[in-house]
Amino acid sequence: MLKMEDVTMRRTTLPHPPAALLLLAFVAIAPACAQGQNRQDPGKPPATRELRLDQRYLHFPVGLDKDRSMVKLLVDGEIVRYFTLEIAPKGATPLYWASLDVGEFAGKQATLAIEGEAKLLDAVEQGATIRTAQNAYRESHRPQFHFSPRVGWTNDPNGLVYLDGEYHLFFQHNPYGTNWGNMTWGHAVSTDLVHWEELGDALHPDISGTMFSGSAVADHQNTSGLQRGDAPPMLAFYTAAGGQSYEKRPFTQCMAYSTDRGRTWIKYAGNPVVAHIRGGNRDPKVFWHAPSNKWIMVLYIDRGNFVVFASKNLRDWEKQSGLKFPEGHECPELFELPLDGDPAKTRWVIWEGGGRHMIGGFDGTTFTPETGVLKSEWGVNCYAGQLWNHVPDGRTLFIGWMRAKTLPGAKFPVYPGMPFNQQMTFPREFTLRGTAEGPRLFAMPAREIETLRRAHYTWSAAPLEPGVNLLQGVSGELFDIEATIAPQTAQRIVLDVRGTPITYNTQTRILACMGKEAETGLHDGRLKLRVLVDRTSLEIFVNDGRHVFSFCFAPDANNKTLRLAAEGGTAAVHALNVWKLASIWAG
Ligand code: FRU
Repeated sequence: MLKMEDVTMRRTTLPHPPAALLLLAFVAIAPACAQGQNRQDPGKPPATRELRLDQRYLHFPVGLDKDRSMVKLLVDGEIVRYFTLEIAPKGATPLYWASLDVGEFAGKQATLAIEGEAKLLDAVEQGATIRTAQNAYRESHRPQFHFSPRVGWTNDPNGLVYLDGEYHLFFQHNPYGTNWGNMTWGHAVSTDLVHWEELGDALHPDISGTMFSGSAVADHQNTSGLQRGDAPPMLAFYTAAGGQSYEKRPFTQCMAYSTDRGRTWIKYAGNPVVAHIRGGNRDPKVFWHAPSNKWIMVLYIDRGNFVVFASKNLRDWEKQSGLKFPEGHECPELFELPLDGDPAKTRWVIWEGGGRHMIGGFDGTTFTPETGVLKSEWGVNCYAGQLWNHVPDGRTLFIGWMRAKTLPGAKFPVYPGMPFNQQMTFPREFTLRGTAEGPRLFAMPAREIETLRRAHYTWSAAPLEPGVNLLQGVSGELFDIEATIAPQTAQRIVLDVRGTPITYNTQTRILACMGKEAETGLHDGRLKLRVLVDRTSLEIFVNDGRHVFSFCFAPDANNKTLRLAAEGGTAAVHALNVWKLASIWAG
């Protein structure tokens, strides 16, 4: 997501001014989160260090990520990796070690080149295994049941695909710093949507650009002809962000494939699969459209404009239609949902990065809206979400980036001093339900969260008298809370989570938290709340997920209390269930 101050900052730190068009494209994508300044001295030749790659990893000690230098790794005279980072000087304590896998170049002679302090290259070490901190995943501000990268920055989820018992979660990753940059596809897998194992970065920047967002499919019918062996090929569609390369180029849509269930990746020799159209065109979402027996790609062109492409073989793409989405920005999604669970009555949803969406029809060529633009998010920290392709039980599963501001001006640091930055939402299930206003999207936590439930506190038919805290004595950091409450004479119902109140005002029918609000009625005189509490996040699902609030928060470490109370009158708790949740990280 873009902000003018970042655009200005990035523009002044570009090593070489790009052509006007590319600058425009570049300006269009510089995200709000970019923070590091690129060190530059165009007159000075880069300092180099020669080395033989005789171990699997090159370890870079990552400094404070404020004063970045461009580092290039050359093998046989070719630039095989490039990135910007602040290398911590030898002997200094790094924020973390970035371990670059150079296994594919084993035994080769290589050159490390840096545009900056030559002696910093001496701090780079080789090693046989990833160099990770002893307390990895046990850091004080580590989300405990939300995915976050072991080290480095993340933003959008990418390439969500299910294949052969595994949910894949690729993600925009900066392996070399805790701010946005060096966009690489990180990769994690899960067999249960809850526990994630990072497999190492899958797609690295190349001369065509850094690896911006996109999607992945499993080609079960081998329409691409790329299958080798038994496993269906997995294909990833990404934007090569040419404006971010060491040689400025236009933004194009490219493909990479894996014939070993996502373990290794080959960039398609025929790239790009979609040539540059305009500016910072990006974020291809590909999925299978059974009725027309073809693959569909929906692509973001620029604000308000998406384009739909189709392909029979995942290599050759033809434009089908332009798609107008008022103010629609980045990371499009297009998906079908049964209305009230009836497969005979489906609707399509077109969705943009901010979760604004329209409901309508899609015939394989054109999307026709039946609604205006609707909201899916009433909080602030959910962006650039995506759905999994090929979910085996047909559920519509989503995960979003819990985008939290880290620039000066942010209300609070969410991850102070951590070797990682940002996290994902917990996976959510989308449904479409008829309401008085027409069909509306609902979202609830994926049911897999239940496997993390431990200690259980439960109440039913309990009166809530003014001044009484029903949750007195329940304390902790990780909770799944379900409440169904009839407000009766109360003016407000308050669920306070570690000092952050979630308040329902019975007069205005407004549910409010952290300065954000949604008007929401009662059902059968009852308010239904579902709240997931992690160390640094709060996700609130109101009335079965009709309204969703996603928040990052920084609770006082000394306050681990919960409070459920009625104010200005009495309420009745129909049912209240509170579970403490287990961490997903081992140890
Ligand atoms: C959304 C976004 C995408 C882009 C990616 C770059 O947050 O700006 O449009 O592909 O992030 O990291």
